Amino acid sequence: MKLPKLRTLGLAAGGLLLAIQLVPVSRANPPVTARFEVDPTVDAALRRACYDCHSNETRWPWYSHVAPISWLVAYDVEEGREHLNFSTLATESAKEQRHALAEACEEAQEGEMAPWFYVALHPEAELTKTELAALREFGGGATDSD
Ligand code: HEC
Repeated sequence: MKLPKLRTLGLAAGGLLLAIQLVPVSRANPPVTARFEVDPTVDAALRRACYDCHSNETRWPWYSHVAPISWLVAYDVEEGREHLNFSTLATESAKEQRHALAEACEEAQEGEMAPWFYVALHPEAELTKTELAALREFGGGATDSD
């Protein structure tokens, strides 16, 4: 069997890369129905480090327009919003809100959130000690069983 020429392979790969750009990807930012009101320090920290995946105010970077990366970004945003959405959280009961904040606090404290690859791309998503303390003070009063 004759091996295909490198040029043919290159063209095929290029064609495939172009073709996958046609797959539709949703980058919608639904309306913010109920803004989550918190202490300004906590608010700024959450906006900087969490809102891209946990709100309807996602900033879609250029690479979120290039497949296949766009698929990963869109998937993370969809999953993230499903688990925790600060743009609709205020419509939940006070108990739900406390629970969500306690969980957010825990994830941030343990360094589980924001995800490592996100922090690698957005170094500003690293929360400062002051911000972590503010988050703990604000959300730490509640527990998961609350
Ligand atoms: C790159 C997107 C992204 C960013 C940024 C991000 N998250 Fe997440 N988060 C996710 C995804 C996806 C999930 C659901 C899957 C999982 O648990 O890993 C999730 C899950 C969670 C959960 C779990 C909710 C549950 O129901 O178990 C909490 C709490 C959370 N994130 C808090 C945060 C906080 C706090 C920040 C900011 C410090 C943050 N996340 C930043 C993508 C993100």
